[in-house]
Amino acid sequence: MKRILILISGRGSNLQAIVQRCADEAWPAQVVAVISNRPGAEGLGFAAARGIPTAMLDHRGFASREAFDDELSHLIDGFAPDLVVLAGFMRILGDGFVARYAGRLLNIHPSLLPAFAGLQTHRRAIEAGCKLAGATVHFVTPTLDHGPIVAQASVPVLADDTPETLSDRVLAAEHRMYPEAVRWFVEDELRVSEGGVVHHRLGISQLFCG
Ligand code: GAR
Repeated sequence: MKRILILISGRGSNLQAIVQRCADEAWPAQVVAVISNRPGAEGLGFAAARGIPTAMLDHRGFASREAFDDELSHLIDGFAPDLVVLAGFMRILGDGFVARYAGRLLNIHPSLLPAFAGLQTHRRAIEAGCKLAGATVHFVTPTLDHGPIVAQASVPVLADDTPETLSDRVLAAEHRMYPEAVRWFVEDELRVSEGGVVHHRLGISQLFCG
């Protein structure tokens, strides 16, 4: 039974999708805790209602990034997770933290990386005239939004899209893709090499086209 710990900062809709799919499909895994760096994150309420242990560690109470990361690691390690999932965790993690969880730290980013790392991805995709947008699940490395890509989901950018309408379309694709990628991890299907991440049985065809 693999132990999954999920870090959030807000709404937690990806968290919900993962918890739901884990239960519905009886993965060989359980979500052992949900931790938020923001008080009042909606996802904490969802987790608590499902009987999942929750914690909140407000980064504003720490003098440095390292001090926050250290305390967060301490909290995480108490749950002994096999996998740490960033699901809308809007806080940059330091190199020490990333190294500690290397190979077992996944993130979802709302763009087709390596395009549009950072914030405001949907507005930037529209302004750039992109015809496709999407989301990426990747292993976390010290360079922000640049780790080995596990899966990508694409959706069309429509002529009358606003950042909000595009975000809704991408989010629906995230909810299909992220649980699948987490499932691959807990079923030991992912192999990371210099050439990227390969699914043990499916090869490199980790595509979700909308
Ligand atoms: C998602 O769209 C996720 O891709 C994005 O935040 C949203 C969280 O939604 N993550 C990032 O921007 C990370 N850089 P959720 O809380 O409803 O899952």
